[in-house]
Amino acid sequence: KIYPVIMAGGSGTRFWPLSRRNRPKQFLALAGDAPLLAATVSRLPPLSRPRDTFVVCGPKHAAAARRMVAQLPKENFIVEPCARNTAPCVGLAAIHVAAKDPRGVIAMLPADHHIGRPPAFRDALAAAAQLAEAGSIATIGIRPSRPETGYGYLKLGPRLAARAKGKKRLVAHKVERFVEKPDVVTAARYLADGSYLWNSGIFVFRADVILDEIRRAMPVLGEQLEAIRRTLGTPNYARTLKRVFPDCPSISIDYGVMEKSQRIAVVPAEFGWSDVGSFAALSDVRVTDDLGNVAEGDALVIDGRNNVVLAGKDRPIALIGLDDVIVVDSGDALLVCRRDRAQDVRKAVEELGRRG
Ligand code: GDD
Ligand code: MG
Repeated sequence: KIYPVIMAGGSGTRFWPLSRRNRPKQFLALAGDAPLLAATVSRLPPLSRPRDTFVVCGPKHAAAARRMVAQLPKENFIVEPCARNTAPCVGLAAIHVAAKDPRGVIAMLPADHHIGRPPAFRDALAAAAQLAEAGSIATIGIRPSRPETGYGYLKLGPRLAARAKGKKRLVAHKVERFVEKPDVVTAARYLADGSYLWNSGIFVFRADVILDEIRRAMPVLGEQLEAIRRTLGTPNYARTLKRVFPDCPSISIDYGVMEKSQRIAVVPAEFGWSDVGSFAALSDVRVTDDLGNVAEGDALVIDGRNNVVLAGKDRPIALIGLDDVIVVDSGDALLVCRRDRAQDVRKAVEELGRRG
């Protein structure tokens, strides 16, 4: 049995002007017809049941998330008083699952990824769950294709004994080292080395195992979680959460726990994974024309290649004789950006934010 927990508290500033404070990336249908969060939930069955699936998000997005994935019970939405990055998010989810099932296997899933082949994804997750049951923190590793600095890297260690499950054989390795977001020189070295995989951002572990690892790597967070756990299911829970959670260290599970853990294993897998990191990634996950253009809505490209043009409801967009350009119209704001600068959209958001 697997308890999927979807981390849906990110802000996604690289998708401005489509993403806004009240409509972050996971609520956008960036990779198809369904919003990323909805797609994340609906690709899980038959591996897990809706009643065992949880969503963790902030108070501003809880109502929208409940509406978007109405198949989950209301009490399965774990609401953080404020965003403290993923280490506290994972810890909070773990105490909730542990209350139902102390050794329950949790699959932590990012809410904002695209997966091209859900059946292969479910196979990988099932394999990771087997490792997790035996006490590992299981990751899913993707073969790297560029020296990406925004990902974690997993150094492959010895192969773990393969176990046959049905017809499928489980291939897994111990992870020798977990390195979160290396600089570009290091990332290029890892790529050339060939014994590193990208961390997909999906973690599978037993509730008791991850709480143990958190206590070991982040003792203060461990204490804070324990204080919250003691009030779970009592009228004091909301008050305690509101008091304790904002003081939790704001750090990702990758830096806070994974880089320090000795019990990481990895299932290498290929299932059309994309973390849809910026508008430039849309050409991997959406339909393109023969010249590599993504043109959505009333958008037209004449004599141009590899553009991403997303028209809004209000007016058509025509692009003529341009290559590698991103144009996004949200009605009340317009983005025009060189494709190789798609990561810098977040700078525009910061700058515009400063201007109020
Ligand atoms: N509930 C909640 N609360 N969710 C959060 C919070 C929070 O405070 N912060 C982030 N999230 C959610 C995001 O919405 C996303 O779905 C997921 O947690 C991961 O957070 P990101 O901020 O997107 O992490 P990242 O992309 O920088 O890095 C992670 O993913 C990479 C792959 O995409 C790491 O795990 C890397 O190692 C990995 O390679
Ligand atoms: Mg991410």
